[in-house]
Amino acid sequence: MTVNAHSDANTQQAQSVANEPIPFVDLAKFHGVSLDDLYHRAVMLKQKNCLTEGQLSKIAASLQEVQDVLDQSNSGTFVVRQARLSDIDALCNMVNYWAQQGENLPRSREDIIRNILTFAVCVKDNEVLGCACLYVYDTGLAEIRSLGVNPMIQRQGQGRAIVDFLVHRAWQFEIKKVFVLTRNPEFFAKVGFSKTTIDALPEKIRKDCEHCPKFDRCDEVAYEVNLKYH
Ligand SMILES: CC(C)(COP(=O)(O)OP(=O)(O)OC[C@H]1O[C@@H](n2cnc3c(N)ncnc32)[C@H](O)[C@@H]1OP(=O)(O)O)[C@@H](O)C(=O)NCCC(=O)NCCS
Repeated sequence: MTVNAHSDANTQQAQSVANEPIPFVDLAKFHGVSLDDLYHRAVMLKQKNCLTEGQLSKIAASLQEVQDVLDQSNSGTFVVRQARLSDIDALCNMVNYWAQQGENLPRSREDIIRNILTFAVCVKDNEVLGCACLYVYDTGLAEIRSLGVNPMIQRQGQGRAIVDFLVHRAWQFEIKKVFVLTRNPEFFAKVGFSKTTIDALPEKIRKDCEHCPKFDRCDEVAYEVNLKYH
C-alpha cells in the first residue's frame, strides 16, 4: 500500500502540498504502527535474542532522531495526538462547551473516560485546543463525534488536523466509511467529505436518531468519506 491508499480528497491534498517531490514511502510497512510500537517490537525481539544489543541501540537512536526532527519542525505549532486520561478535564470542558452551544451532544465525564481510546486531541504548549472521537459501529463503519475547537482560535487549521488524524486512524483500522452528522457542512466539504443522506446511514438512525426529539425536523446533514484499500 502506498500513500495514495487514503481517500481521494486526502490524496489530492497531499499532492497539492507545495507540489514538491515527496519521498516515496511504502505505508503498508508502517500500517497502524507508531514509533512506540516499533521500539517495543525491537525490545521484544532483543528479549528473544533475535536482535543484538547493537541492533537495538541503532533502532533506538534512529527512532529518537525521527522524534527529534519532528519535534524541532513542530515547535511553536500544534500537534494532534491520542487523548490521555490527563486530558480529561480539558476534554470535558471542550465537549460540554460545544454541547451548551447546541453543536454537539453532551457527554458525562464517565462516558469520556470510558471512551478515552476513541478520542484525539489537538495540543499546543500542553494546552488542549480541540478534540473529537471516532465511534465505531458494529457494522464496521465509523462516525466522527464530539468535534470542537477552542472558540478563541477557530479557522487556524486545528479542526482539519483533528479530522485528518481520525480519518487516518480509521484507515489504519481498515474502516471503509467515516461519516458525520453536522450543522457545519461547509467545514466537512472543505476537509474532503461528501454529502450523503442520513437514510444511507442506518447505524446512526438506529442508535441515536430514533430517540432524538428533532427526529421529524432534523437540522443536521450527513457527510461521509470512503476509504480505499488495495
Ligand atoms: C467546525 C470546527 C471544528 C472547525 O474547526 P477550525 O479549526 O475552525 O477549522 P479549520 O481551520 O481546520 O478549517 C478548515 C477549512 O474549513 C473552513 N471552515 C472552517 N469552519 C468553517 C465554516 N463554519 N464555514 C465555512 N468554512 C469553514 C476553513 O476556512 C478552512 O478552509 P481552508 O482550508 O480553505 O482555509 C470549529 O468551527 C468548531 O469547533 N465548531 C463548533 C463545533 C462544531 O460545529 N463541531 C462539529 C459538529 S459535527
